[in-house]
Amino acid sequence: MKVIEARGVKKSFGSFHALQGVDLTVNAGECVGLLGPNGAGKSTFIGVVYGVTDRTEGTITTFGHDPRSSSREIKRRLGVVPQESALDEALTVVENMRLFGRFVTLPQAQVDKRIDELLVYMSLDHKKDAPIRTLSGGMKRRLAFVRALLAEPELLILDEPTTGLDPAVRHLLWQKVTDLKKKGKTILITTHYMHEAEVLCDRIVILNQGKIIDEGSPRNLIERHAPGYVAIYDSSHPSVSQLRERAPAHWAIYPQQSNLCIRAPTLSELVELQKSEATEPLLLRPSNLEDVYLKLTGEELTQND
Ligand SMILES: Nc1ncnc2c1ncn2[C@@H]1O[C@H](COP(=O)(O)OP(=O)(O)OP(=O)(O)O)[C@@H](O)[C@H]1O
Ligand SMILES: [Mg+2]
Repeated sequence: MKVIEARGVKKSFGSFHALQGVDLTVNAGECVGLLGPNGAGKSTFIGVVYGVTDRTEGTITTFGHDPRSSSREIKRRLGVVPQESALDEALTVVENMRLFGRFVTLPQAQVDKRIDELLVYMSLDHKKDAPIRTLSGGMKRRLAFVRALLAEPELLILDEPTTGLDPAVRHLLWQKVTDLKKKGKTILITTHYMHEAEVLCDRIVILNQGKIIDEGSPRNLIERHAPGYVAIYDSSHPSVSQLRERAPAHWAIYPQQSNLCIRAPTLSELVELQKSEATEPLLLRPSNLEDVYLKLTGEELTQND
């Protein structure tokens, strides 16, 4: 079943074209990651999905409904963590949750129990009666996340849910998202953390300047765009220029800050290359989604592209 189906979606703000014809389908039970540079149009697309932003052109259905005319119907079935947490600063944590609890069709006692469980889960229980304005940035983010889960939504939309979270809480959130995936929930997530996208998403969609430039599973994208292993060298080391010259022309060789990255198809070829040189890489690792992202969004300038 298709939960979201967008065809040729465009959104303009005056003469600026934020979305320039987006075709995207999200199937039930899928976790789809929407990646792209600042200003690519990710949050704009999310707004169009549930009807807070009206599209300029194209068609879109969410749960089979047009968000332009049936946004209420759609909102009943989804939980959103917006990029800006949008919490009422004057309310306390529990009051904020109860306010959202009004949309939940469960008896009050069960809602209260669920609020308590969720607050414990994200380690917010000790802040239950604290006004939102006294919370730290990461605590507000955690609250926005658990608030989105309150109504047990079928579709969860997470716009940079882990920005500002410490590593331990980030892992906790990943665990929760993984549990929700196992329960068959559909998830659309944006993030600037490539590792997070690789860990959580079944499918990655890369958006750049309002257009989808590629999509696929993390593995598939890595295999197509940046297969192999990457060695990172300190460019100032004298023997790095020799390495650069001896590396076969079809490998990817590109600078990154004061370092030089060399990506080879296999680990053994990379090890072979550097055997005769008196330098060790600062880092040697399998290629990852960040390599794909930087290549596709034009940040990685390779010798051979
Ligand atoms: N209400 C608005 N009025 C005018 N321009 C807007 C409006 N909302 C978004 N834009 C523009 O549309 C473009 C896409 O914005 P959007 O917020 O969707 O980007 P994003 O991919 O979510 O970026 P980020 O990673 O920074 O969150 C940006 O250039 C932004 O300035
Ligand atoms: Mg955004």
